[in-house]
Amino acid sequence: MASSSNYCRNSFTMVSVTLLMVMCSMMSFASAQLSTSFYSKSCPKVIGTIRSEVHSAVSKERRMGASLVRLFFHDCFVQGCDASILLDDTSSFKGEKTAFPNINSIRGFGVIDDIKKKVEKVCPGVVSCADIVAIAARDSVVILGGPSWDVKLGRRDSKTASLSQANSGRLPGPTSTLANLINRFQAVGLSAKDMVALSGAHTIGQARCTNFRTRIYNETNIDTSFAKTRRSQCPATVGRGNNNLAPLDLQTPTGFDTKYFQNLIHKRGLLHSDQVLYNGGSTDSLVEKYSKDSKTFNSDFVKAMIKMGDINPLTRSQGQIRKNCRKLN
Ligand code: HEM
Ligand SMILES: *[C@@H]1O[C@H](CO)[C@@H](O)[C@H](O)[C@H]1NC(C)=O
Repeated sequence: MASSSNYCRNSFTMVSVTLLMVMCSMMSFASAQLSTSFYSKSCPKVIGTIRSEVHSAVSKERRMGASLVRLFFHDCFVQGCDASILLDDTSSFKGEKTAFPNINSIRGFGVIDDIKKKVEKVCPGVVSCADIVAIAARDSVVILGGPSWDVKLGRRDSKTASLSQANSGRLPGPTSTLANLINRFQAVGLSAKDMVALSGAHTIGQARCTNFRTRIYNETNIDTSFAKTRRSQCPATVGRGNNNLAPLDLQTPTGFDTKYFQNLIHKRGLLHSDQVLYNGGSTDSLVEKYSKDSKTFNSDFVKAMIKMGDINPLTRSQGQIRKNCRKLN
């Protein structure tokens, strides 16, 4: 949707203005419906309720903040930000949780359940799981020291999920080339700049050995001592120690800052898909800028998170407000 509305803005002068206006208002309808004040009458306590639950989850385990940010990304890139990722498999239904990018990797479902229970007590049947995920991601960034913003709200929850979409490459993998990353983001209406800014989320959180083994053993654009340190916890033999963890930002793994970009400049990106952002290509200058300028990074990151949150929301009578985020009503 975001891409179609961008296209629309640029093509007004080209053909029939009225026809285009009708088409464009239809296409951008859904995201235009989101609003930062959506629950101000129906559930004024929702923001505080979610924030205190995220606070307690992140104080128990700092990494959970990172996991909640990633949950929002993986929700939005498959079918849009509609809580499709939260649906459990059943005997007759295979959801997104077992998709390659998610299995043994995506976390935070229990925290979302806890939040939902509290929110249902304050305002039953009002707040969607999709909006809870969006707010929890923002709260996590703030708690870990990053910027704040007003989250656009009013998303509804899907009645479906898509294992095949989740496995289709929509969610780019850690061995992606720069061209592939740019493509995958473009496909959901996000620019190369948005992609680099959003990759800055790798200033927090952890990755598993299986996702960076080839990089630390076989790539040459990597700092030697960094590779050596990472090898000590990630065996070369394929299949061994696959789930051993390493921080995506070796300097401040639970602090939201610009050290991720500084690492890239020193060839200390953990994933192949991190280092391609600074490897002689078109995004080098932006990485340099963000590494030195946290104000610009924070502001671009916020803009891109808001844009990502606008991907194909369900609104009005679409979807439902799930009572339990794991299953349909
Ligand atoms: C640019 C394309 C991206 C790729 C290829 C990518 C890939 C990955 C991979 C492979 C991991 C480690 C998973 C594991 O080993 O279990 C990871 C972790 C993470 N990703 Fe990304 N990611 C990308 C973009 C993003 C975006 C846009 C966000 C959020 C805005 C994000 C947030 C995170 C966070 C916070 C973690 C750590 C999660 C945790 O510790 O639980 N990533 N990513
Ligand atoms: C490194 O490359 C060699 C030669 O292509 C290959 O046999 C080996 O499996 C690779 N190792 C890793 C850890 O990717």
